[in-house]
Amino acid sequence: MKKTHAVTISLSSDIKKIGFFDSGIGGLSILNAVIKTHPAECIYVADTAYLPYGNKSKEVLIERGRVVTKLLQSYGIDTIVIACHTSSANCLETLKAEFPEVTYIDMLLPTIHAAAAATANNKVGVIATVGTINTHAHQKLFEKHAPETAVFEQACPKLVPLVESMTATPDERATALQEYLTPLQHQEVDTLILGCTHYAFLENDIRALAPELTLISAGGCIAPGITPTEQGPLTFLTSGEGDYSESIKQFLGTTSCTLKFEQF
Ligand code: DGL
Repeated sequence: MKKTHAVTISLSSDIKKIGFFDSGIGGLSILNAVIKTHPAECIYVADTAYLPYGNKSKEVLIERGRVVTKLLQSYGIDTIVIACHTSSANCLETLKAEFPEVTYIDMLLPTIHAAAAATANNKVGVIATVGTINTHAHQKLFEKHAPETAVFEQACPKLVPLVESMTATPDERATALQEYLTPLQHQEVDTLILGCTHYAFLENDIRALAPELTLISAGGCIAPGITPTEQGPLTFLTSGEGDYSESIKQFLGTTSCTLKFEQF
């Protein structure tokens, strides 16, 4: 008997302010889903000075998690969505221990439960950054929560730069993706976890190349909330040089929220 999808990314509608962080625009795929269902004011940190997170050491990722947590706390935030699988895999436990007053919401467990519920042949592929795959966080969580599942992990170092550059052609995206999908297709996985929030922006490309796969992304695991009648302002904080506002607007899609951009 298959387990049902028991774990969602759940945010109470009583929360007035929610913080998000990622290395760049990937976490907007999570923010997009949250602002449609939750009335809170949202502050999004794109830690672009440290992009990509996928090739950083655990120590660097933890330190960035601390810096960003303190920054969000200075905005009065105590609920933080780690809108990044690499940080979820490398930092969650340390951050929870160091900031017990903060509620952290991570990307891993919900996607694992969704994949375990979706697979018919108990073969699940995971595509993610090198930094996530090196932790084998997905493998370990499947062993604990769905041990009947065979997990095939694939690091995809070319994908985050492709999404961030916004200039890649469909052919360039397909070539990079096919390299990573082929070994998983040979293993006959029927379900694929998009284990990096940036990959949500490649979902249509992946579907075209591998229509046989059920795709699981963290954005799809956001628990349904209420449709907000009024939305607080959305503030974007970036650590890197350069104007990120255009790419943020483009990837955010349509929103009636007031947008504010600042560098920290
Ligand atoms: N979007 C992030 C993740 O989910 C980070 C990707 C990166 O910067 O390498 O893993």
